[in-house]
Amino acid sequence: MFEMKEEYKVGVAGIDEQHAKLFELGEKAYQLLKDEYSIDKYDKIVAIIEELRDYTIVHFKDEEDYMESIHYKKLFSQKIDHEKFIKKISDTDLNKIDQNQDEYIMELLNFIAKWLTNHIIEKDLLIGRNN
Ligand SMILES: [Fe+2]
Repeated sequence: MFEMKEEYKVGVAGIDEQHAKLFELGEKAYQLLKDEYSIDKYDKIVAIIEELRDYTIVHFKDEEDYMESIHYKKLFSQKIDHEKFIKKISDTDLNKIDQNQDEYIMELLNFIAKWLTNHIIEKDLLIGRNN
């Protein structure tokens, strides 16, 4: 579901490494969701999603610092996107996942995967070209 591909590479090593780590965390949560035999699977999934959220906050900060350092013109629009994404994930009450757990988590992971991929392709790739 989450896969770092060659075409997602921005060309800035630090950013690409962090994007890869975000995909890794997302994939870890997804694999657990599919695992029928895992004990305490929902607790583990919630922990990974929390880790993903926290790491995303660190990543956005680093990415914004980089954009600032190269005087990137679209920094403001990136910041708005980043804030919206963090808000959406933070507003998701992970402790309330007790009914239709699988469906709920699947929807959330789908949202994260789509958002990350679209954001990288439509916005982050431009950072590498500085335009
Ligand atoms: Fe990014």
